[in-house]
Amino acid sequence: MNRPQIANRRMATIGAARGRPCTLVVCRGCCCGNPRKHPGTDHAWQLDRLRAGAAESRGGFAVRATDCLGPCDQANVIVVQPSTAGRAAGGRATWIGFAMDDDCTDELLAWAAAGGPGIAAPPPTLELQFVRPPRETRARAARR
Ligand code: FES
Repeated sequence: MNRPQIANRRMATIGAARGRPCTLVVCRGCCCGNPRKHPGTDHAWQLDRLRAGAAESRGGFAVRATDCLGPCDQANVIVVQPSTAGRAAGGRATWIGFAMDDDCTDELLAWAAAGGPGIAAPPPTLELQFVRPPRETRARAARR
């Protein structure tokens, strides 16, 4: 095993010990991120910006895109999942709806960088965009 491989394995071990970071799950299904359905928003730029923020955080938070999460009428939908530490502190996945403008993107980045649910309070204006998750998601969370 060469040095970069050893370093990568060490970083993976450190990451596993720390647990999972806060993660922004960005819906990019049939409606979210679709410029034909939601013109006037640069959806690709939004996702690039979120990913750049995650890269700058050096593991502080992560971003991943996913297929349709369900509440298409509230597009763009982004779910802020708590880190392992945040979940242990009582943080739960928080669904953000109508995440279209720059201010919302800034607030998502700021909250995730601060630690996300269970670790840091969300920006008050972002709270105005909290939406209820779909019923089946709520039922699944209640069984945990
Ligand atoms: S495409 Fe995002 S909720 Fe359906």
